[in-house]
Amino acid sequence: MKFAGHTHQEFIEFQGDDLFDIKNYFWEFFQDGIRRKHFVYLNPLVTAPVSQVDAYDRYTDGIRRYLNFSSYNYLGYSVYPEVIQDVQETLAKYGTGAASAPLFSGYYDITKKLEDRIAAFKKKEAALVFPTGYSANVGVLSCILKPGDVAVLDILAHASIYDGARLAGATIKVFSHNSPRHLERVLKGLKTKRVMVCVEGVYSMDGDLAKLPQIVAVCKKYGAKILIDEAHATLIFGKHGRGVAEHFGVEDDIDISIGTFSKAFGAIGGFAVADHKLISFMRVSARSYIFSCAMAPHTAAGILKILDIYSKDKSQRDQLWENTKYMHTALRAAGLDIGATQSQVVPVFVGEEMRLREIGKRIYEKGLYTGIVTYPAVPTKRTRLRLSISAYHTKEQMDACAAILKSAFDDVPE
Ligand SMILES: Cc1ncc(COP(=O)(O)O)c(C=O)c1O
Repeated sequence: MKFAGHTHQEFIEFQGDDLFDIKNYFWEFFQDGIRRKHFVYLNPLVTAPVSQVDAYDRYTDGIRRYLNFSSYNYLGYSVYPEVIQDVQETLAKYGTGAASAPLFSGYYDITKKLEDRIAAFKKKEAALVFPTGYSANVGVLSCILKPGDVAVLDILAHASIYDGARLAGATIKVFSHNSPRHLERVLKGLKTKRVMVCVEGVYSMDGDLAKLPQIVAVCKKYGAKILIDEAHATLIFGKHGRGVAEHFGVEDDIDISIGTFSKAFGAIGGFAVADHKLISFMRVSARSYIFSCAMAPHTAAGILKILDIYSKDKSQRDQLWENTKYMHTALRAAGLDIGATQSQVVPVFVGEEMRLREIGKRIYEKGLYTGIVTYPAVPTKRTRLRLSISAYHTKEQMDACAAILKSAFDDVPE
């Protein structure tokens, strides 16, 4: 089918004579999207990010209820009463924010406690807590790599990994997604030993796992350092929840592990763990750490509480796995293409962008909220919906989601 409308790629690539020509071009794109009901983003939520949310709907100018398969609150921790209580108590004691960058007065006892706790949890010598996961990758890579060094990235690595390597002025080389053989070919061709290979534990737009044992073996063979971003894997993979490196038993071979508190922790912030000398160096060198306000103490308190809860009770994670398996089966049974996902991150592949927008419009009208993912987050011909499965979804909600998706895909053939 031929679909009408502007694509996201068009406006991203647009370059007018004047720097601000982009705003008119974008406005046209935006208004066209609104007219076609393709623009189903940025509807402010008015409730907590659990299985159902209430959100503003620009098309009816009112609040509507949606089935929510879009939030990262995988284990539901953001609304745990014990977590909220600790956050509230810390808020009352310390106030709303850190009010300074960490090297001045933004470093609190509770943030230090969180760093020590994360290092112990991840079984590494030391940890550094960043304001976000994005800033963790950008800060770490940009302070370690120098111009002339090479960052070898899985082609599907997160934007923050690319941005960190770019900020460093390093040479960026990519290898085909999850291909240890291609990685080996790339490493073999390099003339420097100053090389950092970067992968994700769970790929954020595909839900598949890095082939870590093989990737680690190739890195060792060529003496390359390895950074893994466990954003979507922390608390989910590995016996103790340390991520995909724990799952595959290769934690000791990882040089730097990155994580975020914005996914299964349902909070905000990021972290890096490594040996203590490397972390000490990062603490005074990572630009996104030293030039940005520190994490708020109450956020650290909530995360500490979650670590307490998780160490004693992993039933939420068991429930998440049950739901994930159920949903994979339901979506495949509905004839949908969910690729090679092995996790709670579930892509539903669509193809070209305008078809995605037509499908997005239909599922939104039927009250389903999912990620609608276009270029530049994914390649232009591989647009998709992205579902986040959570422990709090019921079977009825998962069945309803699969049914809505099936009817929208049937309604909009390729
Ligand atoms: C793999 C990966 N790394 C880093 C990030 C950034 O994390 P944060 O949202 O904490 O900035 C994300 C989030 O989208 C991610 O998926």
